[in-house]
This record gives sequence, structure tokens and C-alpha cells, in this order.
Amino acid sequence: MSAAVAEDLSSPWRAGGRSTGAVDPWADDPDLGEIVVAEDVLDKRVSQLGDEITADYGGRPPLLVGVLKGAFVFMSDLARAIRLPVEVDVMAVASYGSATTTSGVVRIVKDLDSDLTGRHVVVVEDIVDSGLTLSYLRRSLLARQPASLEVCALLVKEGRQPSKLDLRYVGFHVPPDFVVGYGLDVAERYRNLPDVRVYRGPVPVD
Ligand code: IMP
Ligand code: MG
Repeated sequence: MSAAVAEDLSSPWRAGGRSTGAVDPWADDPDLGEIVVAEDVLDKRVSQLGDEITADYGGRPPLLVGVLKGAFVFMSDLARAIRLPVEVDVMAVASYGSATTTSGVVRIVKDLDSDLTGRHVVVVEDIVDSGLTLSYLRRSLLARQPASLEVCALLVKEGRQPSKLDLRYVGFHVPPDFVVGYGLDVAERYRNLPDVRVYRGPVPVD
């Protein structure tokens, strides 16, 4: 790399590789409440999860299965925090229900490209609320005969799951508010917020 380019990459507005210090374009958004998980806390926890997965999966590289769209930010950070040659696949599910609650009836909108037979699968989820989406996914993926299947959920809402879910890796337990950011949306908005915040705006009807 030429000296000029190297110098350019280290210019102050890129300090720490992030746009820290830049104006927060969401600061005055009346629909956003308090920060639930700050950017640096997310960073730290995601690298811890990466370390745990690295330690657990040595010798049997995992296939990360991201649940779109919410998990796309988390999975991209998590994949890079795992010091193993992982493979990545994605699936998309749609659940019937209102915009902010799940009915439990889930439909696969985009299926995986990979064959799960004999693979060590880690399902990467953004948030577990009722747990219904995850229960459905687990059943459906286990039917494909993976060698193992574990779940890595960034957020779990406290007190919302009627039965205990077997979650091998959890980033944070959070209060049962509706939250956005770091991949999570409301009507496709706020996915690129760098932190997780409470959403206090009107709930769109879908
Ligand atoms: P569950 O089936 O009730 O556990 O809902 C899980 C799915 O609903 C998540 O994967 C999200 O896509 C969505 N969801 C649940 N709670 C929230 C939230 O607070 N913000 C954004 N999406 C959410
Ligand atoms: Mg999701």
C-alpha cells in the first residue's frame, strides 16, 4: 500500500475504524428511546462470543446459519470474531402476526443453499422474544440431520419465553421492550444503527 493511502486510512474521522465523533443522525429522532446496548459493549461481547465458539469448535469448523434480515450485522461481526475457517449461509423466515409480535406460524421465505447433513451448525439469531421462531427453526433444521446444532442469539428478552429454550450462546438478556438497531428494524428502518435502542414510535400495521 502506498504511503499516501495508508495516511488517508488513518485520518482522524476514521479513528478506531469507526465513525466515532461524527454527528449522531438519530440523536433527535423522537421515536427512539434509550440505548439498551452501546456500540463498544456490543463490540466486546461479540468478540467474547467469537472466542467461545472458537474454543468450542476447534477441529470441527462450524457452519453459521444467519436468520435474515435481522442477524446480518451480528453475523458479519461474529464471523470475523471466530478464529476458525467458518462457512456462512443464510435463510429468511416470515412469521404471521403483527409487526411487533410473532404468531408462531413461521414460513421459510429463503432456504439455505447448504446441505446440513453431518455439519456442525450454529444458528445465528438477532433476538429471541417469544422463542416461537427459534423453536420452529430448530425443528426444521434438526430434521436435516446435522451432526450438531446450537444457537447463538445476540439478545434474549427477559420473561417472554413460555418454556426454557436451549440457547448455547447468548449476547445479552434485555428487558422486554421493542428494540431496534444493529440489524433489528421496525418496518425496515434503523437496521444500521450502530447500537441497540428502545423504539418508542408508532407501531406500523402490516
Ligand atoms: P419470536 O418468535 O417471538 O421469538 O420473535 C423473534 C423474531 O421477531 C426476531 O427474530 C425478530 O425478527 C423479531 N423481533 C422480536 N422482537 C423484536 C424487537 O424488539 N425488535 C425487532 N425485531 C424483533
Ligand atoms: Mg429474526
